[in-house]
Formats: sequence, C-alpha cells, structure tokens
Amino acid sequence: MNQEEFFKKITAHAKEYGFVFPSSDIYDGLSAVYDYGQNGVELKNNIRQYWWKAMVQMHENIVGVDAAIFMHPTVWKASGHVDAFNDPMIDNKDSKKRYRADVLVEDHIAKIEDKINKEVEKAKKRFGDAFDKEQFVSTNARVLGYKQEIEDISHRLYVAMENNDLAGIKQLIEDLGIVCPISGSRNWTDVRQFNLMFATQMGSLAEGANEIYLRPETAQGIFVNYLNIQKTGRMKVPFGIAQTGKAFRNEIVARQFIFRMREFEQMEMQFFVRPGTELEWFKHWKEERLRWHLSLGIPAEKYRYHDHEKLAHYANAATDIEFEFPFGFKELEGIHSRTDFDLSSHSKFSGKKLQYFDPETNESYVPYVIETSIGLDRMFLAMLSHAYTEEKLEDGSERVVMKFPAALAPYKVAILPLVKKDGLPEKAREIMEQLTPDFMCQYEEKDSIGKRYRRQDAIGTPLCVTIDNQTLEDNTVTVRDRDTMEQIRVNADELYNIIRNKIAPKRV
Ligand code: GAP
Repeated sequence: MNQEEFFKKITAHAKEYGFVFPSSDIYDGLSAVYDYGQNGVELKNNIRQYWWKAMVQMHENIVGVDAAIFMHPTVWKASGHVDAFNDPMIDNKDSKKRYRADVLVEDHIAKIEDKINKEVEKAKKRFGDAFDKEQFVSTNARVLGYKQEIEDISHRLYVAMENNDLAGIKQLIEDLGIVCPISGSRNWTDVRQFNLMFATQMGSLAEGANEIYLRPETAQGIFVNYLNIQKTGRMKVPFGIAQTGKAFRNEIVARQFIFRMREFEQMEMQFFVRPGTELEWFKHWKEERLRWHLSLGIPAEKYRYHDHEKLAHYANAATDIEFEFPFGFKELEGIHSRTDFDLSSHSKFSGKKLQYFDPETNESYVPYVIETSIGLDRMFLAMLSHAYTEEKLEDGSERVVMKFPAALAPYKVAILPLVKKDGLPEKAREIMEQLTPDFMCQYEEKDSIGKRYRRQDAIGTPLCVTIDNQTLEDNTVTVRDRDTMEQIRVNADELYNIIRNKIAPKRV
C-alpha cells in the first residue's frame, strides 16, 4: 500500500468509526473545517489531558490560563500579526484556483525528492544486501544532480521570502515551469500577500462596530495575562503559563485532512526566564517535549528535530519536533526562544510595564520567553496514523486495529458478557459499575464475541473483559489484550490495577 492509499484509509476509517467528520457534513462539508465524533472527542480530550497533566500538574512552577478567543484589536498590532502574518498567494487564471506560492515551489521540490527516492529504490533492488544507502546518495551522479537542484531552488525561495520579493517568487514559479494541478496551465497572476487572520465585527454596526480578529494563536492570551498571573499567583521566574484552546487561520492551502485546518486547537506554554538563561531553557524544553512524545511509547524513529536556520526577527533559537506522517516528516510541535519581543511590544502598545523584579539579583527586567506550541489536531492525526494497522491473522482472517497508546485510547476497556442470558449481562454491568468512575468503559452484548473484539480493535480499546459462566462461580474474567490478542484469566477485583498499569506513561 503506498502512502497516499494509506492516508485515504486513515481518513475513511476516521469517519466510519466516529472519530472525525467533515464539518456540516449534510451540507457537503466546509473546506478545512472538521468535527470530532463520539470516539474522536474522547481521543482529543485524552491528548489534551495528557498534555495538561505533564505540563501543569507535574510542574510546580507552571500554571494554566483560559483566555477569551476575542482580544483587544491592538494585541494583534503589538504581536506583529496585522502587519506580518501573511502568506504569499498566487492564482491560476484558467482554473481560478488560489495557491500558496511558496507551497507550489515546495511541492516541486518534493517531486525532485521523489526522484531521489526512486533512484534509491532502483539501486536497492540492483545491489541487494550489499546496498549502502548513505554511500549511494553521496556518490551517485544523478542523485547529486537532483540534490544540487533542490539546494538551488530552496536558496532562491529563501532569499525571495526573506526579502518579501513577490516578483522574485513569481519568477521562480515561471522558471521552474510549475503548472496548475487543475488546469495544467502556466497562466499565473502576480504573487500577493494574504493576511491569515479572520476578522469580524464586535458591537452593532449602527454604533460603529470595531473590527476584531479571531485569535490566530493562543500565545497572545498568555502574554496579555503575564502580569495578572505573575502577581496574583506570586510566581517567581522561571515560571510558565499554559493554555489550550481554539485558534483560527484562513489557510490558503488547507489540505491533508486535519493537518492544516482553518479552525484548530493549540496547546501552548510560555516559560518566562531571566535574560541570558534562555538558551539553556530552550535546550531543556526541546528535550523535555520530545520525552513527552516518547512517554506515549511511540518509536523514537517516528520523531526528529528540525532546527531552524532562518529565524523570525524576534527569535534567537527555534526548532520543530517533526513526526513521520503518512505524507512524510512534518512539523508537529514548535519550540521557540522568543526573547522579550512579545512582552516588550505589549508594554509599548499598552503603556503598562510588563516587568519582573528579581529578588535574587535585585533588578527589574522584561523576562525572556521559551514557547512550546503543539497543535492538538495535528497530534490527533499523528496518533491516528501511528495507530492504524491492518493485520493478517493466523486463521487467514484480517483485522484493522487502532494501536493507540493506551493512555489516549477513547475507551480503556470493553465489558462483554459472553451471552445475553444466564445472568451474565447483570454480572457484567456490576463489574462495569466498579470501573466507570475511573475509566471510560463500553458495554457490548450484541453479536458474537469475535465480532465484538473486531469492533473494539477498530476503535482502539486496549482491553476487552469477557464475562462467562465461570465468572458467576468464582468472579474471574478473561482479559484480552488488543495488540497481542492474548487472553488471561484474572479475578475481577484485579481489573482496576491492570487497567491503571496499562495506561501509565512510559518512563523515558
Ligand atoms: N504560538 C506559536 C505558533 O502558533 P505555529 O508554528 O504557527 O506557532 C504551532 O503553530 C503549532 O500549531 C504547529 O506546530 C501545529 O502543530 C499547529 N498548527 C498551526 N497551524 C495549524 C493549522 N492550520 N491546522 C492545524 N494545526 C496547526
């Protein structure tokens, strides 16, 4: 199965099993906006809680905030979003389709990367076991030519983007002979900047309404509350403020399912530190955040850092934690050393001093900030794509199993009476009642036990508990493991501890 087919299967499975639906589905959806169904909302809540627990509950010096989505319009002037939160866009005059100009170039680069991969595959077949990939890609003339081509294009794009040279970006698209994927033509408009913020009106038009924005990131809700929280929480630098919540961006290229959405959720933390210590803290959070990902038990090869060479004007270090999605390694989380840019800028625009008096050094300063920022929906997609597994079983049958980390699975346990009679449903409900205050449980008595196991596999329930006649005699049940399909017989009183152990974070 190629990556495209694999991705299609994941999106189809997400819909079929109540994880993700297109928004307003009965009206044929709304582009790049999605709803989470009965299983999706559980998975999403669990990811959010797993993050909140690791960031807030497990750190004495990090507290939370829940700021409003609507904010004073000057916030977005101060943050730079009004002037600089733009993407370069270009329209094809024949198809009337709009594209992000830099993405058209990046897609062109991806095609050249595909050519390299094909050369590697061919060579692998030719050389068999003796094949040394490293050596091949660093010596093969054709591959080296492709690599040089990529480097030249990337450099031209980087220079044009850095200098806001829109004519230069258009020239690059023309020089590369990029065609519109819909019309196939090269009939392009000029490249223009397009602000990604959604604007709306607050107050009635008659009274002279104010234009305000739907927040494009949650971070600014933290910065504007810095002083309130530092003072009322008597927080001492270094300390952090965490927030989860919706953000909105009018993305031009909105595709790849929930990877890039127009309405999405972020989980962000701003960590305020003494100036001069920020690069140490940056290193700390870079490592700590990767550990968080690995604590879910996902193989380390699925993650990599991508350190930014090109830094935003306010940052002095930045890295992405990338995840291997079905369409390749892509940004999952960003860790940025944002200096004192945001607090200083809000000080300037608001006229309020956003400083900290450090009792240890007896001086006041504007704290520097390390930010960790992860998209909840993107993490959701990472988990869906990691979990989706098709397996051929020994008896020749097949199953689709969602191997979610147990801590994130929508349901932790399914309670299954073997048959719908002989007092088994009553006993099953009695066992379930003991577990529901602590764990999401699903009760199922319809269909054969095999069919019920398959349904639970498809939504990723880590444990199935079967109640049979022996349960009535000695209170024992069988517990089936989703991944190994092994079954053990245990006393029902042990279930609490078994489930607890199953969902505990892995130590890394
Ligand atoms: N406050 C910093 C900030 O917002 P960002 O790199 O623009 O930085 C942070 O976004 C994270 O938010 C990304 O790593 C990604 O996981 C998520 N994200 C950004 N735009 C998104 C979109 N349109 N749809 C889904 N997730 C998105």
